[in-house]
Amino acid sequence: NKTENQILVIFGASGDLTARKLVPALFNLYQADQLPDNFVVLGASRSDMTDSAFRNKVVLESTYLKNKLENLEDDRVKDFASKFFYEDLGGSYDTDYGRLRKRVEDLKNKYQTSGNIIYYLSTPPTLYETIAQRLSDAGMGTQNNGWKRLIVEKPFGYSLDTAKQLNRGIQKFFKEDQIYRIDHYLGKETVQNLLITRFANSIFEPLWNRNYIHHVEITNAESVGVEKRGGYYDTSGALRDMFQNHLLQIVSLIVMEPPISDAPEDIRNEKVKALKSLRVMKTDQELFDHTIRAQYTKSVIDGKEVKGYREEEGVDKDSTTETYAAIKFFVDNWRWKDTPFYVRTAKRMPTKATEVVIHFKTPHHQVFQDTGLDSKDNKLVIRIQPDEGILIKFGVKVPGQGFKVERANLDFYYSSLAETHVMEAYERLLLDAMQGDATLYARADEVEAAWEFVDPILKYWEKGKDVRMYGYAAGVWGPENSNELIDGIGEWRNPGP
Ligand code: BG6
Repeated sequence: NKTENQILVIFGASGDLTARKLVPALFNLYQADQLPDNFVVLGASRSDMTDSAFRNKVVLESTYLKNKLENLEDDRVKDFASKFFYEDLGGSYDTDYGRLRKRVEDLKNKYQTSGNIIYYLSTPPTLYETIAQRLSDAGMGTQNNGWKRLIVEKPFGYSLDTAKQLNRGIQKFFKEDQIYRIDHYLGKETVQNLLITRFANSIFEPLWNRNYIHHVEITNAESVGVEKRGGYYDTSGALRDMFQNHLLQIVSLIVMEPPISDAPEDIRNEKVKALKSLRVMKTDQELFDHTIRAQYTKSVIDGKEVKGYREEEGVDKDSTTETYAAIKFFVDNWRWKDTPFYVRTAKRMPTKATEVVIHFKTPHHQVFQDTGLDSKDNKLVIRIQPDEGILIKFGVKVPGQGFKVERANLDFYYSSLAETHVMEAYERLLLDAMQGDATLYARADEVEAAWEFVDPILKYWEKGKDVRMYGYAAGVWGPENSNELIDGIGEWRNPGP
Protein backbone atom coordinates (compact mmCIF):
# COMPACT_ATOMS: atom_id res chain seq x y z
CA ASN A 1 0.00 0.00 0.00
CA LYS A 2 1.12 3.51 -0.71
CA THR A 3 1.47 6.03 2.09
CA GLU A 4 0.94 9.52 0.77
CA ASN A 5 2.79 12.57 1.99
CA GLN A 6 1.01 13.90 5.05
CA ILE A 7 1.05 15.86 8.29
CA LEU A 8 0.30 14.23 11.62
CA VAL A 9 -1.04 16.78 14.08
CA ILE A 10 -0.96 15.45 17.64
CA PHE A 11 -3.23 17.21 20.14
CA GLY A 12 -1.99 16.68 23.67
CA ALA A 13 1.49 16.16 22.28
CA SER A 14 3.30 17.05 25.49
CA GLY A 15 1.57 14.14 27.26
CA ASP A 16 2.84 10.73 28.02
CA LEU A 17 1.43 8.89 25.03
CA THR A 18 3.47 10.77 22.44
CA ALA A 19 6.80 9.91 24.00
CA ARG A 20 5.84 6.43 25.19
CA LYS A 21 3.92 5.07 22.21
CA LEU A 22 3.68 7.36 19.19
CA VAL A 23 7.31 8.36 18.82
CA PRO A 24 8.64 4.80 19.18
CA ALA A 25 6.05 3.59 16.66
CA LEU A 26 6.92 6.36 14.20
CA PHE A 27 10.62 5.74 14.66
CA ASN A 28 10.23 2.05 13.87
CA LEU A 29 8.23 2.92 10.77
CA TYR A 30 10.95 5.38 9.81
CA GLN A 31 13.65 2.74 10.25
CA ALA A 32 11.65 0.33 8.14
CA ASP A 33 11.23 2.96 5.40
CA GLN A 34 7.49 2.90 5.83
CA LEU A 35 6.98 6.62 6.33
CA PRO A 36 6.12 8.66 3.26
CA ASP A 37 8.90 10.72 1.66
CA ASN A 38 7.46 13.89 3.09
CA PHE A 39 6.18 13.40 6.56
CA VAL A 40 5.71 16.00 9.26
CA VAL A 41 4.62 15.72 12.87
CA LEU A 42 3.12 18.85 14.38
CA GLY A 43 2.66 18.64 18.13
CA ALA A 44 -0.02 20.88 19.58
CA SER A 45 -0.94 21.40 23.18
CA ARG A 46 -1.49 24.06 25.81
CA SER A 47 2.09 24.42 26.96
CA ASP A 48 4.51 26.87 25.50
CA MET A 49 7.43 25.13 23.76
CA THR A 50 9.74 25.73 20.85
CA ASP A 51 10.19 23.20 18.04
CA SER A 52 13.55 22.23 19.40
CA ALA A 53 12.29 21.84 22.96
CA PHE A 54 9.58 19.55 21.59
CA ARG A 55 12.12 17.55 19.59
CA ASN A 56 14.26 17.16 22.65
CA LYS A 57 11.39 16.20 24.86
CA VAL A 58 9.71 13.61 22.70
CA VAL A 59 12.48 12.32 20.45
CA LEU A 60 15.97 12.93 21.73
CA GLU A 61 15.13 12.38 25.37
CA SER A 62 12.69 9.59 24.80
CA THR A 63 13.55 6.69 27.07
CA TYR A 64 12.64 4.32 24.29
CA LEU A 65 15.07 5.76 21.78
CA LYS A 66 17.77 6.12 24.41
CA ASN A 67 17.49 2.47 25.34
CA LYS A 68 17.33 1.38 21.77
CA LEU A 69 20.17 3.40 20.32
CA GLU A 70 23.52 3.80 21.91
CA ASN A 71 24.47 6.85 19.98
CA LEU A 72 21.64 9.32 19.86
CA GLU A 73 23.73 11.65 17.77
CA ASP A 74 23.21 9.22 14.95
CA ASP A 75 22.31 11.03 11.72
CA ARG A 76 19.17 8.98 11.27
CA VAL A 77 17.88 10.03 14.66
CA LYS A 78 18.63 13.65 13.87
CA ASP A 79 16.90 13.35 10.54
CA PHE A 80 13.92 11.69 12.22
CA ALA A 81 13.75 14.42 14.87
CA SER A 82 13.86 17.12 12.21
CA LYS A 83 10.37 16.06 11.12
CA PHE A 84 8.90 17.24 14.44
CA PHE A 85 7.42 20.71 14.98
CA TYR A 86 5.38 22.29 17.71
CA GLU A 87 2.61 24.85 18.01
CA ASP A 88 1.14 25.96 21.30
CA LEU A 89 -2.56 26.64 21.47
CA GLY A 90 -2.26 29.55 23.87
CA GLY A 91 -3.34 27.84 27.04
CA SER A 92 -6.60 26.26 25.87
CA TYR A 93 -7.89 23.73 23.33
CA ASP A 94 -11.09 25.72 23.16
CA THR A 95 -9.72 28.58 21.19
CA ASP A 96 -9.42 29.94 17.69
CA TYR A 97 -7.24 27.64 15.58
CA GLY A 98 -6.27 30.36 13.10
CA ARG A 99 -2.63 30.27 14.13
CA LEU A 100 -2.57 26.50 14.04
CA ARG A 101 -4.09 26.57 10.56
CA LYS A 102 -1.44 29.00 9.38
CA ARG A 103 1.29 26.74 10.74
CA VAL A 104 -0.21 23.70 9.06
CA GLU A 105 -0.44 25.64 5.78
CA ASP A 106 3.21 26.65 5.99
CA LEU A 107 4.32 23.09 6.66
CA LYS A 108 2.10 21.82 3.91
CA ASN A 109 3.63 24.19 1.37
CA LYS A 110 7.15 23.58 2.52
CA TYR A 111 6.86 19.79 2.55
CA GLN A 112 4.27 19.37 -0.22
CA THR A 113 1.94 17.28 1.85
CA SER A 114 -1.02 18.43 -0.28
CA GLY A 115 -3.57 18.85 2.49
CA ASN A 116 -3.44 15.29 3.80
CA ILE A 117 -3.75 15.52 7.55
CA ILE A 118 -4.26 13.15 10.45
CA TYR A 119 -5.44 14.78 13.66
CA TYR A 120 -4.53 12.56 16.58
CA LEU A 121 -6.46 13.39 19.74
CA SER A 122 -4.42 12.34 22.72
CA THR A 123 -6.27 14.59 25.16
CA PRO A 124 -8.94 13.85 27.76
CA PRO A 125 -12.08 12.69 25.89
CA THR A 126 -14.02 15.66 27.26
CA LEU A 127 -12.09 17.73 24.72
CA TYR A 128 -12.76 15.60 21.62
CA GLU A 129 -15.89 17.41 20.53
CA THR A 130 -14.41 20.83 21.26
CA ILE A 131 -11.32 20.09 19.20
CA ALA A 132 -13.38 18.65 16.34
CA GLN A 133 -15.55 21.77 16.39
CA ARG A 134 -12.61 24.17 16.53
CA LEU A 135 -10.94 22.35 13.63
CA SER A 136 -14.12 22.56 11.67
CA ASP A 137 -14.61 26.28 12.53
CA ALA A 138 -11.14 26.94 11.19
CA GLY A 139 -12.00 25.09 7.98
CA MET A 140 -9.44 22.42 8.81
CA GLY A 141 -11.76 19.44 8.41
CA THR A 142 -12.69 19.90 4.77
CA GLN A 143 -11.45 17.40 2.27
CA ASN A 144 -11.47 19.52 -0.88
CA ASN A 145 -7.78 19.43 -1.10
CA GLY A 146 -6.40 16.24 0.41
CA TRP A 147 -7.99 13.97 3.04
CA LYS A 148 -8.46 14.64 6.76
CA ARG A 149 -8.63 11.86 9.36
CA LEU A 150 -9.29 12.04 13.07
CA ILE A 151 -7.81 9.43 15.42
CA VAL A 152 -9.31 9.32 18.91
CA GLU A 153 -7.88 7.52 21.90
CA LYS A 154 -9.73 5.59 24.55
CA PRO A 155 -11.61 5.86 26.82
CA PHE A 156 -14.42 6.33 24.34
CA GLY A 157 -17.25 7.25 26.66
CA TYR A 158 -17.92 6.54 30.29
CA SER A 159 -21.26 4.83 29.74
CA LEU A 160 -23.60 4.05 26.87
CA ASP A 161 -25.09 7.55 26.96
CA THR A 162 -21.79 9.37 27.04
CA ALA A 163 -20.40 7.20 24.25
CA LYS A 164 -23.42 8.04 22.11
CA GLN A 165 -23.08 11.73 22.90
CA LEU A 166 -19.42 11.59 22.01
CA ASN A 167 -20.15 9.89 18.71
CA ARG A 168 -22.88 12.37 17.80
CA GLY A 169 -20.65 15.24 18.97
CA ILE A 170 -17.71 14.32 16.76
CA GLN A 171 -19.89 13.26 13.86
CA LYS A 172 -21.26 16.80 13.64
CA PHE A 173 -17.87 17.86 12.34
CA PHE A 174 -16.25 14.76 10.85
CA LYS A 175 -17.83 12.00 8.79
CA GLU A 176 -17.76 8.48 10.20
CA ASP A 177 -15.30 7.32 7.54
CA GLN A 178 -12.88 10.04 8.71
CA ILE A 179 -13.02 8.90 12.35
CA TYR A 180 -10.56 6.30 13.60
CA ARG A 181 -11.27 5.05 17.15
CA ILE A 182 -8.15 3.39 18.38
CA ASP A 183 -8.13 0.16 20.38
CA HIS A 184 -4.54 -0.91 20.64
CA TYR A 185 -5.50 -4.57 21.15
CA LEU A 186 -6.57 -4.68 17.52
CA GLY A 187 -3.03 -3.72 16.61
CA LYS A 188 -1.69 -6.88 18.22
CA GLU A 189 -0.72 -9.59 15.74
CA THR A 190 -2.19 -12.36 17.86
CA VAL A 191 -5.55 -10.59 18.02
CA GLN A 192 -5.63 -10.20 14.24
CA ASN A 193 -4.59 -13.82 13.97
CA LEU A 194 -7.90 -14.87 15.52
CA LEU A 195 -9.36 -14.21 12.07
CA ILE A 196 -6.79 -16.40 10.37
CA THR A 197 -7.10 -19.18 12.93
CA ARG A 198 -10.83 -19.29 12.38
CA PHE A 199 -11.34 -18.46 8.74
CA ALA A 200 -8.23 -19.69 6.97
CA ASN A 201 -7.97 -23.10 8.61
CA SER A 202 -10.44 -25.84 7.92
CA ILE A 203 -9.25 -27.76 10.99
CA PHE A 204 -10.81 -25.16 13.30
CA GLU A 205 -13.77 -23.55 11.60
CA PRO A 206 -16.07 -26.59 11.42
CA LEU A 207 -15.70 -27.04 15.18
CA TRP A 208 -16.21 -23.39 16.05
CA ASN A 209 -19.75 -23.56 17.41
CA ARG A 210 -22.05 -24.82 20.17
CA ASN A 211 -21.90 -28.40 18.88
CA TYR A 212 -18.25 -28.84 19.70
CA ILE A 213 -17.29 -26.03 22.05
CA HIS A 214 -18.19 -26.49 25.67
CA HIS A 215 -17.26 -23.02 26.85
CA VAL A 216 -14.91 -20.15 26.08
CA GLU A 217 -12.65 -18.52 28.61
CA ILE A 218 -10.61 -15.34 28.30
CA THR A 219 -8.11 -14.17 30.88
CA ASN A 220 -6.39 -10.84 30.86
CA ALA A 221 -3.98 -10.54 33.76
CA GLU A 222 -1.54 -7.80 34.59
CA SER A 223 1.03 -8.00 37.34
CA VAL A 224 1.24 -4.23 37.76
CA GLY A 225 -1.16 -2.28 39.94
CA VAL A 226 -2.59 1.07 38.89
CA GLU A 227 0.92 2.55 38.77
CA LYS A 228 0.81 6.34 38.58
CA ARG A 229 -2.68 6.43 37.13
CA GLY A 230 -4.68 6.06 40.34
CA GLY A 231 -6.63 9.26 39.69
CA TYR A 232 -7.79 8.14 36.26
CA TYR A 233 -8.26 4.52 37.21
CA ASP A 234 -10.44 5.27 40.19
CA THR A 235 -13.00 6.89 37.88
CA SER A 236 -12.75 3.99 35.48
CA GLY A 237 -12.19 0.49 36.90
CA ALA A 238 -11.39 -2.78 35.17
CA LEU A 239 -14.70 -3.00 33.32
CA ARG A 240 -14.34 0.35 31.60
CA ASP A 241 -10.56 0.29 31.30
CA MET A 242 -10.15 -3.16 29.72
CA PHE A 243 -13.38 -5.07 29.28
CA GLN A 244 -15.61 -2.64 27.38
CA ASN A 245 -12.96 -2.10 24.73
CA HIS A 246 -10.03 -4.52 24.48
CA LEU A 247 -11.71 -7.67 25.75
CA LEU A 248 -14.99 -7.18 23.92
CA GLN A 249 -12.96 -6.64 20.76
CA ILE A 250 -11.40 -10.06 21.30
CA VAL A 251 -14.84 -11.50 22.06
CA SER A 252 -16.24 -10.07 18.83
CA LEU A 253 -13.52 -11.78 16.79
CA ILE A 254 -14.24 -15.11 18.48
CA VAL A 255 -17.99 -14.81 18.17
CA MET A 256 -18.40 -13.27 14.70
CA GLU A 257 -19.64 -15.05 11.59
CA PRO A 258 -17.29 -15.32 8.59
CA PRO A 259 -17.12 -11.97 6.78
CA ILE A 260 -17.83 -12.05 3.05
CA SER A 261 -14.41 -10.55 2.31
CA ASP A 262 -11.50 -8.95 4.11
CA ALA A 263 -12.76 -5.45 3.24
CA PRO A 264 -12.88 -3.21 6.35
CA GLU A 265 -16.66 -2.79 6.30
CA ASP A 266 -17.31 -6.49 5.77
CA ILE A 267 -15.24 -7.36 8.83
CA ARG A 268 -16.64 -4.54 10.93
CA ASN A 269 -20.23 -5.39 10.00
CA GLU A 270 -19.76 -8.90 11.33
CA LYS A 271 -18.12 -7.64 14.51
CA VAL A 272 -21.06 -5.34 15.19
CA LYS A 273 -23.49 -8.20 14.65
CA ALA A 274 -21.46 -10.30 17.08
CA LEU A 275 -21.50 -7.62 19.77
CA LYS A 276 -25.21 -7.08 19.29
CA SER A 277 -25.82 -10.76 19.89
CA LEU A 278 -24.29 -10.76 23.37
CA ARG A 279 -27.16 -11.31 25.77
CA VAL A 280 -27.62 -8.12 27.73
CA MET A 281 -28.21 -8.90 31.40
CA LYS A 282 -31.47 -7.49 32.62
CA THR A 283 -32.43 -8.73 36.05
CA ASP A 284 -30.57 -8.16 39.30
CA GLN A 285 -30.49 -11.91 39.78
CA GLU A 286 -28.74 -12.43 36.45
CA LEU A 287 -26.32 -9.63 37.19
CA PHE A 288 -25.62 -11.10 40.61
CA ASP A 289 -25.07 -14.60 39.26
CA HIS A 290 -22.93 -13.58 36.31
CA THR A 291 -20.57 -10.91 37.59
CA ILE A 292 -17.86 -10.64 40.21
CA ARG A 293 -15.75 -7.66 41.05
CA ALA A 294 -12.87 -7.29 43.47
CA GLN A 295 -10.05 -5.04 44.62
CA TYR A 296 -6.47 -5.95 45.41
CA THR A 297 -5.38 -5.52 48.99
CA LYS A 298 -1.91 -4.97 50.36
CA SER A 299 0.48 -7.83 50.38
CA VAL A 300 4.12 -8.84 50.08
CA ILE A 301 5.43 -9.88 46.68
CA ASP A 302 8.99 -11.21 46.39
CA GLY A 303 9.80 -9.83 49.81
CA LYS A 304 8.52 -6.37 48.87
CA GLU A 305 5.52 -4.71 50.42
CA VAL A 306 2.89 -3.83 47.88
CA LYS A 307 0.12 -1.31 48.49
CA GLY A 308 -3.52 -2.24 48.42
CA TYR A 309 -5.64 -0.48 45.81
CA ARG A 310 -7.25 1.88 48.31
CA GLU A 311 -3.82 3.02 49.50
CA GLU A 312 -2.66 3.94 46.00
CA GLU A 313 -2.05 7.57 45.17
CA GLY A 314 -5.09 9.27 43.67
CA VAL A 315 -7.47 6.54 44.85
CA ASP A 316 -10.31 7.27 47.26
CA LYS A 317 -9.73 5.41 50.50
CA ASP A 318 -13.33 4.16 50.46
CA SER A 319 -13.25 3.46 46.74
CA THR A 320 -15.45 0.70 45.36
CA THR A 321 -13.79 0.78 41.94
CA GLU A 322 -12.93 -2.74 40.80
CA THR A 323 -9.44 -3.84 39.84
CA TYR A 324 -10.75 -7.31 39.05
CA ALA A 325 -13.81 -8.06 36.98
CA ALA A 326 -15.12 -11.44 35.91
CA ILE A 327 -18.18 -11.78 33.71
CA LYS A 328 -20.12 -14.78 32.50
CA PHE A 329 -22.39 -14.33 29.52
CA PHE A 330 -24.20 -16.00 26.65
CA VAL A 331 -24.47 -15.17 23.00
CA ASP A 332 -27.95 -15.25 21.53
CA ASN A 333 -27.46 -16.54 18.04
CA TRP A 334 -27.54 -19.77 16.08
CA ARG A 335 -23.85 -20.54 16.45
CA TRP A 336 -23.48 -20.02 20.18
CA LYS A 337 -26.79 -20.86 21.81
CA ASP A 338 -26.22 -22.02 25.43
CA THR A 339 -22.42 -21.84 25.24
CA PRO A 340 -21.12 -19.93 28.25
CA PHE A 341 -18.36 -17.36 27.90
CA TYR A 342 -16.20 -16.44 30.90
CA VAL A 343 -14.05 -13.34 30.72
CA ARG A 344 -11.89 -11.88 33.48
CA THR A 345 -9.47 -9.01 33.68
CA ALA A 346 -7.42 -7.78 36.60
CA LYS A 347 -4.44 -5.86 37.90
CA ARG A 348 -1.95 -7.28 40.43
CA MET A 349 -2.16 -10.86 39.31
CA PRO A 350 0.83 -13.21 39.65
CA THR A 351 1.86 -12.58 36.06
CA LYS A 352 1.11 -10.59 32.91
CA ALA A 353 -0.69 -12.73 30.38
CA THR A 354 -3.68 -12.63 28.07
CA GLU A 355 -5.08 -15.82 26.64
CA VAL A 356 -8.19 -17.23 25.04
CA VAL A 357 -9.10 -20.81 25.85
CA ILE A 358 -11.55 -22.75 23.74
CA HIS A 359 -12.71 -25.77 25.76
CA PHE A 360 -14.08 -28.52 23.55
CA LYS A 361 -16.78 -30.95 24.56
CA THR A 362 -16.00 -34.57 25.31
CA PRO A 363 -16.70 -36.97 22.46
CA HIS A 364 -20.41 -37.76 22.64
CA HIS A 365 -19.85 -41.45 23.11
CA GLN A 366 -17.01 -42.64 25.31
CA VAL A 367 -15.50 -45.84 23.94
CA PHE A 368 -12.61 -45.97 26.36
CA GLN A 369 -13.39 -46.29 30.02
CA ASP A 370 -11.17 -44.73 32.64
CA THR A 371 -8.98 -42.80 30.26
CA GLY A 372 -8.28 -40.32 32.99
CA LEU A 373 -9.32 -37.56 30.59
CA ASP A 374 -12.23 -35.35 31.44
CA SER A 375 -14.34 -32.86 29.62
CA LYS A 376 -11.67 -30.22 29.87
CA ASP A 377 -8.88 -31.99 28.11
CA ASN A 378 -9.38 -30.92 24.52
CA LYS A 379 -8.42 -27.30 24.50
CA LEU A 380 -7.17 -24.68 22.15
CA VAL A 381 -5.19 -22.06 24.02
CA ILE A 382 -4.46 -18.87 22.11
CA ARG A 383 -1.74 -16.92 23.84
CA ILE A 384 -2.33 -13.29 22.95
CA GLN A 385 0.67 -12.16 25.02
CA PRO A 386 3.39 -12.78 26.08
CA ASP A 387 4.88 -16.01 24.59
CA GLU A 388 2.54 -15.33 21.68
CA GLY A 389 1.40 -18.58 20.19
CA ILE A 390 -1.13 -21.37 20.00
CA LEU A 391 -1.32 -24.47 22.14
CA ILE A 392 -3.49 -27.48 21.39
CA LYS A 393 -4.11 -29.90 24.23
CA PHE A 394 -5.29 -33.43 23.52
CA GLY A 395 -4.99 -37.03 24.70
CA VAL A 396 -2.61 -39.73 23.39
CA LYS A 397 -2.41 -43.40 24.14
CA VAL A 398 0.22 -44.43 26.60
CA PRO A 399 2.33 -47.10 24.87
CA GLY A 400 1.61 -50.54 26.26
CA GLN A 401 -1.32 -52.77 26.97
CA GLY A 402 -4.83 -51.42 27.20
CA PHE A 403 -5.94 -47.87 26.45
CA LYS A 404 -4.50 -45.64 29.04
CA VAL A 405 -4.38 -42.05 27.96
CA GLU A 406 -1.99 -39.25 28.69
CA ARG A 407 -2.29 -35.53 28.00
CA ALA A 408 -0.13 -34.08 25.23
CA ASN A 409 0.55 -30.62 23.83
CA LEU A 410 1.14 -29.26 20.35
CA ASP A 411 2.64 -25.86 20.80
CA PHE A 412 3.40 -23.10 18.31
CA TYR A 413 5.38 -19.99 19.24
CA TYR A 414 5.42 -16.86 17.11
CA SER A 415 9.04 -16.45 18.06
CA SER A 416 9.83 -19.39 15.78
CA LEU A 417 9.09 -17.03 12.88
CA ALA A 418 12.26 -15.34 13.99
CA GLU A 419 13.17 -13.34 10.94
CA THR A 420 9.80 -11.57 10.76
CA HIS A 421 9.64 -8.14 12.33
CA VAL A 422 6.52 -8.11 14.48
CA MET A 423 5.09 -4.62 14.44
CA GLU A 424 4.11 -3.08 17.74
CA ALA A 425 0.39 -2.34 18.04
CA TYR A 426 0.76 1.43 17.63
CA GLU A 427 3.12 1.00 14.70
CA ARG A 428 0.61 -1.09 12.82
CA LEU A 429 -2.36 1.10 13.69
CA LEU A 430 -0.65 4.35 12.77
CA LEU A 431 0.47 2.94 9.46
CA ASP A 432 -3.06 1.74 8.70
CA ALA A 433 -4.51 5.16 9.48
CA MET A 434 -1.88 6.83 7.31
CA GLN A 435 -3.00 4.58 4.48
CA GLY A 436 -6.70 5.02 5.18
CA ASP A 437 -7.36 1.44 6.26
CA ALA A 438 -9.88 1.43 9.12
CA THR A 439 -10.22 -2.35 9.50
CA LEU A 440 -8.48 -2.35 12.86
CA TYR A 441 -10.33 0.68 14.21
CA ALA A 442 -13.65 0.59 16.03
CA ARG A 443 -16.69 1.98 14.28
CA ALA A 444 -19.33 4.07 16.11
CA ASP A 445 -21.94 1.31 16.15
CA GLU A 446 -19.34 -1.18 17.36
CA VAL A 447 -18.40 0.95 20.35
CA GLU A 448 -22.06 1.55 21.17
CA ALA A 449 -22.90 -2.15 20.91
CA ALA A 450 -20.10 -2.91 23.38
CA TRP A 451 -21.45 -0.27 25.76
CA GLU A 452 -24.99 -1.69 25.47
CA PHE A 453 -23.66 -4.87 27.02
CA VAL A 454 -21.50 -3.23 29.68
CA ASP A 455 -23.84 -0.47 30.82
CA PRO A 456 -26.28 -2.59 32.88
CA ILE A 457 -23.36 -4.22 34.71
CA LEU A 458 -21.93 -0.85 35.68
CA LYS A 459 -25.34 0.41 36.76
CA TYR A 460 -25.90 -2.69 38.86
CA TRP A 461 -22.47 -2.39 40.46
CA GLU A 462 -23.07 1.26 41.22
CA LYS A 463 -26.08 0.28 43.28
CA GLY A 464 -23.58 -1.40 45.57
CA LYS A 465 -26.03 -3.42 47.55
CA ASP A 466 -25.91 -7.22 47.12
CA VAL A 467 -23.12 -6.95 44.58
CA ARG A 468 -20.33 -9.44 44.98
CA MET A 469 -17.38 -7.25 45.89
CA TYR A 470 -14.36 -9.16 47.13
CA GLY A 471 -10.77 -8.50 48.03
CA TYR A 472 -7.69 -10.41 46.90
CA ALA A 473 -4.15 -10.09 48.12
CA ALA A 474 -2.01 -8.38 45.49
CA GLY A 475 -0.16 -11.09 43.56
CA VAL A 476 -2.72 -13.92 43.63
CA TRP A 477 -5.20 -15.08 40.98
CA GLY A 478 -8.09 -12.97 42.21
CA PRO A 479 -10.54 -13.49 45.08
CA GLU A 480 -10.93 -16.89 46.69
CA ASN A 481 -14.50 -16.98 45.52
CA SER A 482 -13.67 -16.33 41.88
CA ASN A 483 -14.63 -19.87 40.94
CA GLU A 484 -18.22 -19.21 42.04
CA LEU A 485 -18.82 -17.80 38.60
CA ILE A 486 -17.56 -20.83 36.80
CA ASP A 487 -19.40 -23.25 39.09
CA GLY A 488 -20.49 -26.47 37.56
CA ILE A 489 -17.86 -26.15 34.88
CA GLY A 490 -14.65 -26.25 36.82
CA GLU A 491 -12.07 -23.63 37.56
CA TRP A 492 -10.42 -20.78 35.75
CA ARG A 493 -7.40 -21.88 33.79
CA ASN A 494 -4.43 -19.82 34.87
CA PRO A 495 -2.00 -19.08 32.03
CA GLY A 496 0.85 -21.55 31.90
CA PRO A 497 1.77 -24.78 30.16
C1 BG6 B 1 -4.71 0.17 28.54
C2 BG6 B 1 -5.25 0.31 29.93
O1 BG6 B 1 -5.70 0.44 27.59
O2 BG6 B 1 -4.24 -1.15 28.35
C3 BG6 B 1 -4.18 -0.04 30.95
O3 BG6 B 1 -5.69 1.63 30.15
C4 BG6 B 1 -3.60 -1.40 30.67
O4 BG6 B 1 -4.70 0.00 32.28
C5 BG6 B 1 -3.18 -1.52 29.21
O5 BG6 B 1 -2.47 -1.57 31.50
C6 BG6 B 1 -2.79 -2.95 28.89
O6 BG6 B 1 -2.24 -3.03 27.60
P1 BG6 B 1 -1.25 -4.20 27.20
O7 BG6 B 1 -1.01 -3.99 25.75
O8 BG6 B 1 -0.02 -4.04 28.03
O9 BG6 B 1 -1.96 -5.47 27.51
